[in-house]
Amino acid sequence: MALTPRFPALLHGGDYNPDQWLKYPDILEKDAELMRQAHVNCVSLAIFAWAQLEPEEGVYTFGWLDEVIDRLWRRGIRVILATPSGARPAWMAQKYPEVLRVTDRYEQRRFGERHNHCASSPVYRRKVAELDARLAERYAKHPAVILWHLSNELSGDCHCPRCQAAFRQWLKEKYGTLDNLNDCWWTGFWAQRYTDWEQIEGPSPLGQTSNLGMQLDWRRFSTAQCRRFVELERDTVKAYAPELPVTVNLMEAFWDYDYFDLSEAVDVVSWDAYPEWRGTAEDLPIACYFAMNHDMMRSFKDRPFLLMESTPSLVNWKPVNKLKRPGMHLLSSLQAVAHGSDSVCYFQWRKGRGGVEMFHGAVVDHDGRSDTRTFRQVTEVGEALERLQEHIFDVPTAPAKACILFDWDNRWALDYVQAAQKGNMQYWQTVQAHYRALWERGIRVDFRDMRSCTDLSGYELVIAPLLFMTKNGIEEKLRAFVERGGTLVTTCFSGVVDEHDLAHLGDTPHGLTEVLGLRAADLDSLWPGETNAMVLEDGTVWPVKELCQLIEPEGCETVARYQSDFYAGLPCLTRNRYGRGSAWYIAAKPEQEGLDDFYGRLLKELPLPAALPDALPFGVIATERSGCVFLQNYSGAEAKLTLSGRYTDLLTGAAVTGETVLPANGVMVLKA
Ligand code: GAL
Ligand code: ZN
Repeated sequence: MALTPRFPALLHGGDYNPDQWLKYPDILEKDAELMRQAHVNCVSLAIFAWAQLEPEEGVYTFGWLDEVIDRLWRRGIRVILATPSGARPAWMAQKYPEVLRVTDRYEQRRFGERHNHCASSPVYRRKVAELDARLAERYAKHPAVILWHLSNELSGDCHCPRCQAAFRQWLKEKYGTLDNLNDCWWTGFWAQRYTDWEQIEGPSPLGQTSNLGMQLDWRRFSTAQCRRFVELERDTVKAYAPELPVTVNLMEAFWDYDYFDLSEAVDVVSWDAYPEWRGTAEDLPIACYFAMNHDMMRSFKDRPFLLMESTPSLVNWKPVNKLKRPGMHLLSSLQAVAHGSDSVCYFQWRKGRGGVEMFHGAVVDHDGRSDTRTFRQVTEVGEALERLQEHIFDVPTAPAKACILFDWDNRWALDYVQAAQKGNMQYWQTVQAHYRALWERGIRVDFRDMRSCTDLSGYELVIAPLLFMTKNGIEEKLRAFVERGGTLVTTCFSGVVDEHDLAHLGDTPHGLTEVLGLRAADLDSLWPGETNAMVLEDGTVWPVKELCQLIEPEGCETVARYQSDFYAGLPCLTRNRYGRGSAWYIAAKPEQEGLDDFYGRLLKELPLPAALPDALPFGVIATERSGCVFLQNYSGAEAKLTLSGRYTDLLTGAAVTGETVLPANGVMVLKA
């Protein structure tokens, strides 16, 4: 099913800010024409247009937007319409300072910037709903409008008295009694016991920073607050056209809110990707990081997503703002598509004349020309999407056989934990290292969190790195998965705490000792630069760093042993046959090469479907979507490979087989 049923197609477009150009009618006229030329078929409008839409309280000026939408529609260009709640007009901050966010040091923000409202301010909620309703009343039925873009890149939290009261209310609903809350927060420690709900405030550098349960709950509450705000906007606009879908644009590796939870509130997942390509072999890990983000976005709803923003050339806000090397724009755009994006959209269509983003890359530069390198590269992407449309759009992809658990609660708990590598537990990086071993082999991977992983039966391999927290009965689900024949890989520092961040009592990994055939003992942490190693039976050595867990085998086989230190010779990689499956425990943190070798060996026994049957040279990645193979070169140099199958490159129509050369940043879309 198309993400945008009113316009079932791959989308190509971007953020368009005509509201900044109302005094330049010629430019506005020319934009639609240039969009056609660039094979752009949709734009995102009004993202920060509140001051143009409601210049004074209660005075609405929609005329300019009517004109823009109609002009675009005449040229067949669709509109993703934003609600402008990402930034407020000055009159509102002046008249109702309560709409401004309060920091965790209890300072109220002043007018300016964006993304800094108080989500519980009744005034803000009312003002947003009023404007959203008027926008929806006017445009939700317009045939050009295909999707709502609610607010922009929601982030952060507010510590004002209203939000503190909302936090307490949320806690009351969760815990029922103060006694229960005190128990779950372990407030016997450092005399923290609460005797009145009113004593509770969120975490602050001026107050509580050491109550783990409370910090976790504040993160969950912040997610709930954000979700409530998104739902307010969603329900307001949907009242006028329930069939018109809504999205919020998400961000990479985002920490503040639980995205599995937040994405339940919207119809379509979309996100903004800004890779910092180097133009060298260093692009490979960067590509891996973005691939993982893309796969997560796809996993949130188990369906395609939209790449809502990316830069057509460069950004302006990094310390070094490098141009994409030739080929990289197409490659990077098609990477998103390979992983499930049904769009390539940009920030931004046209460079503004002023403001901090005046030098941010755009399809149209200040010179207004269409014969530029960037414009040509953008056009090339538009043409490529048109060619791919019939082959991939709404064409199913074979379901993944591998799944990685990635859970926001677990991530926050690891970030808050005062143990092991304190403040540097590297959850994302660790998950990514496992992901990379599969990604480089062209194996499709889903992500699940502990809440959303209700059914693991479709998978053959489940990887749960650093599963520090267990909740939602995950232990039982993993046990049943292995018993039925699945392969589980988990690591040190797993099954340690429950959902309240309270230590499990008894043997750990909690609930998994029988499946793993072992129990965990001491956890050692290595200094930066210090290494140990895993030694396999055949003499292979995999260096490890950071974490070394000691274990007591209780029935598992030892596959590798520590090389050095007082625990030299003790087991550090084990496998346990359980039911019809097996469970692996990686007790230390191997470097990437070791993990790659581990998965290479594992996949010999457990062959999972890969995009291509052939071995690929360094930096060349194959990703399958809809039966097409996206062959991507991130090695920074020309790559030579041999393909055993016979294919057509859908981008050029050329036949591809045997010895094949992929230039640096080259991409092909192969169809058998
Ligand atoms: C995004 C944001 C856009 C623009 C862009 C610049 O994070 O949503 O409005 O600022 O970055 O790269
Ligand atoms: Zn607030």
